[in-house]
Amino acid sequence: MNIFQGKRVVLGVTGSIAAYKSVTLSSRLTQKGALVDVILTDAAAKLVNAITFESVTGRRAYREKDLWEGGEHVLHIELGEENDVFMVAPATANTIAKMAQGIADNLLTVCALASRTPLLVSPAMDGGMYANPATQENLRILEQRGMRILGPAEGHLASGLAGKGRMLEPMELLGHLRLALAREGPLSGKKFVVTAGGTQEPIDPVRVITNRSSGKQGYALARAALDLGADVDLISGPSALEVPVGANVHDVSTAEEMERAVLNLLPEADVLIMAAAVADYQPAKRVSSKIKKEEHDMLQISLKPTPDILHAVAEHKSRSGAPEISVGFAAETDHLKENAEDKLTAKNLDLIAANDVSEPDAGFDVDTNRVLLLWKDGRLEELPLMKKSEVAFRIMDAVIELLEAS
Ligand code: PMT
Repeated sequence: MNIFQGKRVVLGVTGSIAAYKSVTLSSRLTQKGALVDVILTDAAAKLVNAITFESVTGRRAYREKDLWEGGEHVLHIELGEENDVFMVAPATANTIAKMAQGIADNLLTVCALASRTPLLVSPAMDGGMYANPATQENLRILEQRGMRILGPAEGHLASGLAGKGRMLEPMELLGHLRLALAREGPLSGKKFVVTAGGTQEPIDPVRVITNRSSGKQGYALARAALDLGADVDLISGPSALEVPVGANVHDVSTAEEMERAVLNLLPEADVLIMAAAVADYQPAKRVSSKIKKEEHDMLQISLKPTPDILHAVAEHKSRSGAPEISVGFAAETDHLKENAEDKLTAKNLDLIAANDVSEPDAGFDVDTNRVLLLWKDGRLEELPLMKKSEVAFRIMDAVIELLEAS
């Protein structure tokens, strides 16, 4: 599923030096299949040429004069109403002030006023202008009217000073657009808890017991749930991956921390997906200072079991009914189906996704996976090798079906 495919995005660009970053944004959106209509204010057109946008979007980029010229007298209605999402990035203090007051004196502000779709505003300006009470009040007004204010970020500003006023980076804005497009999806209103990555069990202050999980499968599941409109809490073991925009991330390290985070979120959750590779054992004793090599010829570390999180989830569910649906994973190296069936029953799951982690193109730390889906009612589906993002959407299809049936 590509959420951007065929979607109409209106991108308003105003007179901040950050306008050059909007070229990258419109290029990325176009590459993802969106139809991007750029509207430049006169100030923006002094910084970036409309032809630059037209070159990357393959579509006409509009200027203020287009409001009055070319005979397209309903252009503002067309652009304002016929879009799936409307973003102003960068949004200067001036345009923000106009929008807050309902002033419509150029093509962009006319279209923004006419728009009926989600409106996202990404401010970019000098730190003093941003901090000015007038700007702050205007932003509050826009927010109260349901517009989403994205940023600004702190950092180096065009003035040479550092402060708050930088436009968010194009990839982050892309994430916010993705989120806005997902709002009315089939999972909207549903609360998902997704776990991802491997846990780390400390042996001493410098060494841990861990595994090869990168978090890729769990993060893909979180992103897919967001794309379908769900609210997502992502409980993540240490991972270098970028958090999907819109996910509430909870960083944890050990199995015990992960269990606490899961149980805290469970009462509100409709769906739990446990994609994390949770350590089954932890050192029986935690040593507070570094174990010295010189002091041991042979080092033996006694291990004790970690809490079985899905077991605790099953108990919670039998007491309170939450979560409505629980999905587990089975990481196996042999007897994939039989072992997964045992886990499905033992952990009282609605669905389990079993992957053979001994295969080079599936399981840990690769971008693809080959998964066998097993349902509580005995159904089974063998998915071919596919990207982890595709596996995630197949699991979402199964979850939607389970939610509908429950
Ligand atoms: O992160 P990637 O690099 O993308 O790799 C993806 C993955 C291989 C980690 C993922 O696809 C996967 O298989 N995750 C589950 C790994 C695992 O711990 O499997 P398991 O068979 O040991 O555990 C079965 C289920 O019990 C899992 O849902 C696990 O999260 C859960 N569990 C395990 C141990 C424990 N103490 N408590 C648990 O709840």
